[in-house]
Amino acid sequence: MDFRRAIAELLSARTGLPADTLEASVEVPPQFELGDYAFPCFPLAKTLRKAPPAIAAELASKLAEGAPFLDRVQAVGGYLNFFLDRGVFVGTVVADALAAGPRIGATEEGAGKTVIVEFSSPNIAKPFHIGHAFTTILGQSVAKLYTHLGYPVVRMNHLGDYGTQFGKLIVAYGRWGDEAALLEAPIRELLRIYVKFHDEAKADLALETEARARFLALEEGNAPEMALWKRFRDLSLLEFARVYDRMGIAFDNYNGESYYSDRIPAVVDLLRAKGLLEESEGAQVVKLDEEGLPPCIVLKSDGATIYASRDIASALYRKETYGFYKNIYVVGTPQALHFRQVFAVLKKAGFAWADDCVHVGFGLVKFADRKLSTRAGEVIFLDELLAESVAKTREIIDRNAEPRDTDMSEQERVEVAEKVVIGAVQYMFLRNGRDRDIVFSWEEMLDFDGATGPYAMYTYARGRSVLSKGALEGASAADATPEDLARMGGDDEAAVARLLYGFGDAVHRAVEANEPFLLTRQVAGIARAFNKFYNNESILSAPDAGLRRARIALTEAVCTALKTGLDLLGIAAVERM
Ligand code: ARG
Repeated sequence: MDFRRAIAELLSARTGLPADTLEASVEVPPQFELGDYAFPCFPLAKTLRKAPPAIAAELASKLAEGAPFLDRVQAVGGYLNFFLDRGVFVGTVVADALAAGPRIGATEEGAGKTVIVEFSSPNIAKPFHIGHAFTTILGQSVAKLYTHLGYPVVRMNHLGDYGTQFGKLIVAYGRWGDEAALLEAPIRELLRIYVKFHDEAKADLALETEARARFLALEEGNAPEMALWKRFRDLSLLEFARVYDRMGIAFDNYNGESYYSDRIPAVVDLLRAKGLLEESEGAQVVKLDEEGLPPCIVLKSDGATIYASRDIASALYRKETYGFYKNIYVVGTPQALHFRQVFAVLKKAGFAWADDCVHVGFGLVKFADRKLSTRAGEVIFLDELLAESVAKTREIIDRNAEPRDTDMSEQERVEVAEKVVIGAVQYMFLRNGRDRDIVFSWEEMLDFDGATGPYAMYTYARGRSVLSKGALEGASAADATPEDLARMGGDDEAAVARLLYGFGDAVHRAVEANEPFLLTRQVAGIARAFNKFYNNESILSAPDAGLRRARIALTEAVCTALKTGLDLLGIAAVERM
């Protein structure tokens, strides 16, 4: 039930004004003592030809009649303050949550509006580093959030599978490549020769020239270069697929930068036909002075295509293929300028939909004393990081396991540790606004009592454990009658219900700002409120049978909300831990 709407309808019935207009004015007061909702009567003064305090007083006396969800309505000055009936509120929220099930907070408002979410987009032949973990986790959640609101979502992985670095790799592989090592651990071997290339190129300037020539040969479709490039790509993709599988991620479209290389001539023709292309120091550029941006280079002086031209081609392809409503790029904030340029070129070329392209940036990931750069060869491999985390989590789980869970088999412990770790890492990336830098810390990430993934997951498992004990005694959430549910008028119950009630709103706000952390906060809030309720009140040994049924239902609603919330963050909940 939408209480704000219900209040607007009551007001509408009494004043004859449209409920939609009234609803927009129904507010949530800053303080609790002022009620659950408030309505300022000032805008009504003109139509009703009365002073606001008089309107408020008159309406207050009539509104609560026949509206069982209202406890009372107070007139204070020109304001109406609405106090919901606590029991009815909690009961309605719980009943609604149970009816919605995993679709809690879901809508169909996005039906027919395709949203492209491009995320992850690692570079072939380079390790999947921690910055790529950020886009992967953030993008996955953004995609899930849109899906929850009914938008058809296309998950794109714009692989960095092209560019001058492939010229370097081809040269390096010819000189120093080790076939056996390539098959054994492809990315590691490719990284080794890439680093070697840069070391050698300091002394041997001819290497860079040769690399450029090899890249041009690749662009022209020369067979030996093509064959090597394809091998590098295929082997790298296998490695990426392992990480994606582990995180439960799948893409609908893997067209990387190479896919667009054939489409560049058409882009160049189009920009030229619109009179946008100019020559500058031998390169072909689109000037963006009016937009206050540096020129966007489309073709280099040697005729090679670059990153930006491939992005322009890709945006055109996305519009043609999917007719998107929104085209989202989840890419680090250091590339903000690049995207502004690309979108500005599209706008200049007359594509109004350039305004539907959105860059969703994010901050840096820092470790206490390590720097991340492929060239220096000092990267954090995500798989190594996860392996280290699994070991640490396993220690904590073994230490923490409550007596009832000592019957967990070794295999289950291993599986749980794996899921908890992945969840802990995912949660850490989605805990704060995406622009904030993240300082990676084990202690924080795995703190079972903090605002962490393990804490939310643990709360879910705790709720499930109550429910399965209840089930053994033959009790289930479905047994609770509306009268039972309406008996939950306690502070702790109301606090849980308020957060459950805000779930849908949190999903909306997260989608509007492309900020999953707004949902993370809601999930954390629900977990915290439920634990408080759990510690203060008895569930299975509640004072009487009716209250017991109601609290079991509340627990079930919390579990549903936590599971869905975690899922929208990309985290798989575990039934026990
Ligand atoms: N491969 C690039 C990198 O790792 C990110 C690609 C971003 N997406 C795009 N459409 N340009 O930095």
